Amino acid sequence: MKPMVRLLLFLLSITAICVFWGEHTLYIAPQKQRFCACDRCLFENNTLAIEGLREFPQPLLSRNYNLPEEEYNWWRRLQPGGGSISDYRKNIERVFQLISDNPPLEASSPGRCRTCAVVGNSRNLLKSHYGPLIDFQDYVIRINRGHSKGFEADVGNRTTHHVMYLESASQLDNTTRPVLFTFKMRDLPWITRVLSTQPSGKKSIPRKSLFNKDLAMVVNPAFMRYIHQVWLQKKGAYASTGFMALALALHICDEVHVFGFGADSDGNWSHYWEKVPNKKVKTGGHPGNVEYEMIEELARHQILKFYTGW
Ligand code: C5P
Repeated sequence: MKPMVRLLLFLLSITAICVFWGEHTLYIAPQKQRFCACDRCLFENNTLAIEGLREFPQPLLSRNYNLPEEEYNWWRRLQPGGGSISDYRKNIERVFQLISDNPPLEASSPGRCRTCAVVGNSRNLLKSHYGPLIDFQDYVIRINRGHSKGFEADVGNRTTHHVMYLESASQLDNTTRPVLFTFKMRDLPWITRVLSTQPSGKKSIPRKSLFNKDLAMVVNPAFMRYIHQVWLQKKGAYASTGFMALALALHICDEVHVFGFGADSDGNWSHYWEKVPNKKVKTGGHPGNVEYEMIEELARHQILKFYTGW
């Protein structure tokens, strides 16, 4: 056989071997459509029986949103304070004259993995050493009087979002997003008041706003009702602020890590910075056990990761 023909045959055999190996070894299975870029996206393989857990269209209020009367009537009965729906609408209009419209929530996308830590205020955080794990997440959501100073090793020191309402509010730094809950009519003028930087007693010193108004978000009362009805099956008076913060996280994050939830051995919601002053306080009007069981259930179905503390 001529050398040229031998070379050709040799090259042909090499090509045939490569094609054979390629087909058998380099086969890549077709990729399943992903919702996000995390190892496991929220509700990707939803095996939980409760329908519609992450389907609330508008968890945050916006300038042009009109709260339906039925939702308003539920909200109005949460705490004493009264008022008509037109009072409510006027107050909300004033709030939105001061704050920028809430940004629409970004939908998950295959290229994004936004991780969140929701940090409740339970005493089970003490000695947990969760601090670095909490700070490692993209968003760190703290609640009410939850704070870091003196507890950094256990609770971390970053805060991107701070969930609060009139009675639990504290001064935030300029970069933290205030996530505002309202429970009664009086809470609405409170928002406008703390946002207006009017002069204080001394003429030259303007009163400092409690938080950066450009970052403020106001939670939709209809979302609060939905959590109570759909998530908690109407147990208790209404959901705790912490539980609602967790539900909100499931709407804005791709991966949710939950810390600092759980009553003490007497069944009280004691805090990591103080012993509970009144042993009969339990979990207030909130369905503490139902909320805790729901978090456990969500963790069992790998919808979130639950760190139960020390
Ligand atoms: O007590 P506080 O309402 O400030 O705590 C914030 C949230 O943390 C509560 O609304 C509740 O959901 C959760 N919490 C808890 N167990 C505790 C204390 C608070 O689950 N011992």
